[in-house]
Amino acid sequence: MLLTFPLLDATEVQRARALLEAGHWVDGRATAGEQAAQAKQNEQLDATCDSARALQELVTRALERNPRFLAAALPKRIVPPQFNRYRPGADRYGPHVDNAVRLLAGGTARVRTDLSCTVFLAEPAEYDGGELVVLEPGTRREIKLAAGQAVLYPGTSVHEVLPVTRGARLASFLWVESMVRGDEQRRLLLELDDALMALRRDLGDTPPTVALMATYHNLLRMWAET
Ligand code: NI
Repeated sequence: MLLTFPLLDATEVQRARALLEAGHWVDGRATAGEQAAQAKQNEQLDATCDSARALQELVTRALERNPRFLAAALPKRIVPPQFNRYRPGADRYGPHVDNAVRLLAGGTARVRTDLSCTVFLAEPAEYDGGELVVLEPGTRREIKLAAGQAVLYPGTSVHEVLPVTRGARLASFLWVESMVRGDEQRRLLLELDDALMALRRDLGDTPPTVALMATYHNLLRMWAET
């Protein structure tokens, strides 16, 4: 399941851009696995600089209060967001798959990367190229969103960032371990949740809508690992 949603408002994007401007950038290959490092040609914000810390908090807080993200991802753990920049010279990330498990800084926990999320921080008019391409069996999706918009897609997908030929593509990327490991189960829960919200809006809390709410929560109880 691939889902796009608004995450940051204009003020938050402006603040993020100022922090990115002030940050310390390093070669992106430092944090990629062996195969991915060969495909990766970009820059990343040094995760230990002050800008990165402030940005991590900005994006994480926005995710934690975003109902669409919470309903779709059912997050158990969120890897602290990282930030990258693609521009001519360090312009692309060829096809790769992300590591299945990330060790958090300091070795405090391991996070299974059920979902990947990219938050676009530059407007599409600011750069040419730089589409995120997500491959799933039988489909190829190209994604390039307005600043502040996010895309959530399965961590299992092979994906790439196409070469940027003009300007700079700025983005945040992060992984989520979900309480519900399977993409299929998460999709069913989201569809049920959406339909249920619409029913409650139209009909109120009638006995059948309450019964369906119980079904939603009981499915979640059956599938969730906390
Ligand atoms: Ni990746």
